[in-house]
Amino acid sequence: MDFPKILTAHMDDPDVRTLEGYVRVGGYEALRMALQELSPEDVLQRVKDSGLRGRGGAGFPTGLKWSFVRQAKGDPKYVVVNADEGEPGTFKDRVIIDHKPHMLLEGTILAAYAMGAREAYIYLRWEYPAQYRILEQAIREAYEHGYLGERILGTAFSLDLYLFRGAGAYICGEETALLESLEGKRGEPRLKPPFPAQAGLYGKPTAVNNVETLASVPAIVKHGPEWYRSFGTEKSPGTKLFNVSGGVKNPGTWEIPLGSITLRELVFDLAGGPREGRTILGIIPGGLSTPILSEEEWDTPLDYESMAARGTFLGAGSVIVVDDAVPLPTLVRRAVEFYAVESCSKCTPCREGTAWLTRMFRKLEEVGGHGEDRQILDKIIRYMRGKTFCPLGDSAAMISQAFLEKYEDRLFVHVASPGSR
Ligand SMILES: Cc1cc2nc3c(=O)[nH]c(=O)nc-3n(C[C@H](O)[C@H](O)[C@H](O)COP(=O)(O)O)c2cc1C
Repeated sequence: MDFPKILTAHMDDPDVRTLEGYVRVGGYEALRMALQELSPEDVLQRVKDSGLRGRGGAGFPTGLKWSFVRQAKGDPKYVVVNADEGEPGTFKDRVIIDHKPHMLLEGTILAAYAMGAREAYIYLRWEYPAQYRILEQAIREAYEHGYLGERILGTAFSLDLYLFRGAGAYICGEETALLESLEGKRGEPRLKPPFPAQAGLYGKPTAVNNVETLASVPAIVKHGPEWYRSFGTEKSPGTKLFNVSGGVKNPGTWEIPLGSITLRELVFDLAGGPREGRTILGIIPGGLSTPILSEEEWDTPLDYESMAARGTFLGAGSVIVVDDAVPLPTLVRRAVEFYAVESCSKCTPCREGTAWLTRMFRKLEEVGGHGEDRQILDKIIRYMRGKTFCPLGDSAAMISQAFLEKYEDRLFVHVASPGSR
């Protein structure tokens, strides 16, 4: 299968990591053109017309978010790059930073120009020390060559970009917890509304965008929205990075026009299908927080709407393939335990619910379960669904529900009689 390369163009050339190499393949041309020929409104309009949707998980239209920030009352305005990438199974942003850090910087500068921001921040996952050094170097180069700082490329536009390291908490990927953390506070989600576009960093209008979202912007500005819309579907335009990990022969990252292939084609044709002697039981399509799909659902196209129609999400496009190498009760217990450990504890249904889910799945793992356990699990899930500040607890409940609905026979393997407990 031959796909267009937008985000991944020239990624096999190690020089593209440097400013010189990036400029040699046309890098920063979009920024130069925008600053010299386009107004901030023109840049925003291009992003709006492209139909680009946020690649951090929720798929919110990027141009719309930017227009909220641009129109919001309050000064200064901020752009914050969400490079926390803490969702299990997700490593697409790392691929961008590793190979083309300047593409991210160029997209961030364009975003700031479009929204009238004078300062931008990159919030980087603590566990990415190598990427910290890559970004540090890229930012230094950009300042030295006049792409950041005062009067960028000799124009009236100025921008400072700061690199900030998180402290290793998954919840700090959630945009409002991220902002709390960036302000030096404990990383706990804020109640929304107000949304960050109205009251974000230090209470000022802020666009929080994912790495891949911003990295997609230079090509959109350079080639125009119609060109971008020629890839993907009407409601999910453009290309997207897909990570595949878990039970496949050939794990990796692919750039694919949205909706152009199915989940099955990605896993079996591109990622090589099951490992020797193993059977694939299910596929988690968008990172651990997205409900698993069983075999009859694998022919779903990889776009936002098709996944939503299946009751799951495209999420960050991070596919985790579940095979029979690990007993399913153990796998699900590990998954829900992740949420229990990472819950910030602000909301009781999340703090208590994730702990109880872990206990219950540990019981299924160690001594088996029976009908009463199933009823208790259903009650815990009902107690958690939709009752938290952020979707962390909800995700744990939702994925548990999907596993229970689709794999009950594998989860309740050693059905014990009530008296034998
Ligand atoms: C628990 C949790 C963790 C999240 N982690 C990330 C993350 O690591 N990176 C990211 O871009 N978005 C993450 N998000 C989504 C962000 O809250 C937000 O929607 C995103 O940064 C917006 O950017 P986008 O519109 O460009 O997608 C997370 C959300 C939740 C609820």
